[in-house]
Amino acid sequence: MPTVSFPEGFEWGCATASYQIEGAWDEDGKGESIWDRFVHTPGRVPNGDTGDVACDHYHRYKDDVALMTELGLHAYRFSISWPRCYPDGTGKLNRRGIDFYGKLVDELLEAGITPLPTLYHWDLPQALQDKGGWADRDTAKRFEEYAFNIVDRLGDRVKRWLIFNEPLGFIIAGYLAGQHAPGIRDSSMAMRATHIANLAQSMAARAVRQTGHVEALGSAYSMGGIYPATASAEDKAAAERRFRFENLWFLETIQNGRYPEAFAGGNDLNRLGVEPGDMDLLKEPLDFIGINLYGRTTVANDPQDPNLRAREVRLPDAERTGMDTHIWPEAIHDVIVRIWNDYGLPIYITENGTSFPDTVADDGTVDDPKRLDYLQRYLAQVAKAIDAGADVRGYYLWTLMDNFEWAHGFSQRFGITHVDFETQKRTIKQSGRWYRDVITENGFAY
Ligand code: NOJ
Repeated sequence: MPTVSFPEGFEWGCATASYQIEGAWDEDGKGESIWDRFVHTPGRVPNGDTGDVACDHYHRYKDDVALMTELGLHAYRFSISWPRCYPDGTGKLNRRGIDFYGKLVDELLEAGITPLPTLYHWDLPQALQDKGGWADRDTAKRFEEYAFNIVDRLGDRVKRWLIFNEPLGFIIAGYLAGQHAPGIRDSSMAMRATHIANLAQSMAARAVRQTGHVEALGSAYSMGGIYPATASAEDKAAAERRFRFENLWFLETIQNGRYPEAFAGGNDLNRLGVEPGDMDLLKEPLDFIGINLYGRTTVANDPQDPNLRAREVRLPDAERTGMDTHIWPEAIHDVIVRIWNDYGLPIYITENGTSFPDTVADDGTVDDPKRLDYLQRYLAQVAKAIDAGADVRGYYLWTLMDNFEWAHGFSQRFGITHVDFETQKRTIKQSGRWYRDVITENGFAY
């Protein structure tokens, strides 16, 4: 009997993203994306790994939907590659590109699996990057137009949509830290890009609703459990500033038409490049909130830090994943409860999971007890948040199968299905078999 159980109708799914699984990077008229350019630049990704082939999902999507059926998934979160549909980012539609997503949607619906597409999971058309990418205001217009066109074409069959995946993440990693495409390190450009992406998010939300097809619209935000390093008032205030920037920078805007008070001394709208009329465009409230959550960050007050006056503290004894994420299951509970209390919208966990270096045993099986343990502990905390009154509608595990983990290439395996990248053989791991039972029972013994 499950001791951790979920409400009736709770939606169980898995999540993926186009660049991480599809491969077929230059097939059937697809345009180059910023990730194609990035990985083909020597030295950017260790081992020279690329998503050129990845899981070859573009050719194997039918088998992959069969895999989802085997796992018993109710729903599947995937993303649409903008340059596959619009090779130049704008202008002429590449029919073979959009047809791929139409076929995928049909296959899912036939299998009784609800599609949940994300319109943008980081693979910007390189042609738009050449004009400035997310640091150029025109990109917001182009995104609005792209989003409308995609939803207009697939909306007869797809009713629930996500606009962005981790918008703060792609700006910070791509424009400030430079470890993701397009590999820029420029803090003033990054700040302006957050505002342009915020405008794009709201403009696209408004546009896709105009198609008349959308029943529920959300965005998937990276959120972390953020905790003060000590109980001092200064550290608590620093953790709060960090929470607002990391977790709310793209949510408070679309919900309430303003930036959360994150920067010490106030947000500088000039630094964000806010122009007259912009703030009026931001508010376009979502129907649900997607939360991607993996770990925790510990934060101390730091007067030397010019922005948030906050600094991350690395706890030496922390339990960590293969990718160095601090494992802290309570974080998912704490964040859900706060977001529910502050925004009162239905929540979907749009990503949660972990990487560990799994290996195939001689008998061909893949056991991953550490992932299993992680999932049990996090899911128990999701259930606890629901018991506390939060309206959490579903959980999308990251990820269906091992795939291309961005700047880490293939070195990080997050899947509940093992992929042999030489042969493309898929093997459901121990955690995947367990997840199938969780779905059947709508809970688990813990
Ligand atoms: C965040 C991203 O949305 C996804 O693309 C990535 O693979 C996972 N988290 C794991 O790092």
